[in-house]
Amino acid sequence: MKVKVLMVCLGNICRSPLAEGILQSKVDPTKIFVDSAGTAGYHIGSAPDPRSIEVANEHHINISRQRCRKIKMEDFYSFDHIFVMDKENYKNVCSLSPSEDYKSKVRLLLDGTELNYTEVPDPYYGGQDGFQEVYHLIDKACDVLIQDLLAPKKLKNES
Ligand code: 4NP
Repeated sequence: MKVKVLMVCLGNICRSPLAEGILQSKVDPTKIFVDSAGTAGYHIGSAPDPRSIEVANEHHINISRQRCRKIKMEDFYSFDHIFVMDKENYKNVCSLSPSEDYKSKVRLLLDGTELNYTEVPDPYYGGQDGFQEVYHLIDKACDVLIQDLLAPKKLKNES
């Protein structure tokens, strides 16, 4: 059965489309399904921000066909893991959870990455530099979460 991963930010046009594209580029699509959504509905139906499309292109990842959507309560049933970019997203996503138990599916993307950041900064009001930084943070986080999601658990007595 496929592992289903949802990447979430505020607008679903800058950070989470990059996270969707980057993770997709690193995994076997027959094993892992990746999607993204926003907590706000400002840009529903829109393509990603041109600055995200550009930085993804620089790394040979095409995210231009993605379309923005808003996260909904049913996503908690459909997805195994919901990764959020910042603490505000975390709060807003958890408020949609069907029950307390389902909140355990939600994690900050940078948790456990040992980066000097706990959140992926919102690049929307800044320049292209911010998008470069976001790309690299998400890229590193995806490497870590692939190990988490795919690496077989070590046996107790394995060194
Ligand atoms: P994102 O960035 O959450 O990374 O997609 C933003 C996109 C749009 C807005 C804010 C942040 N906005 O205010 O429209």
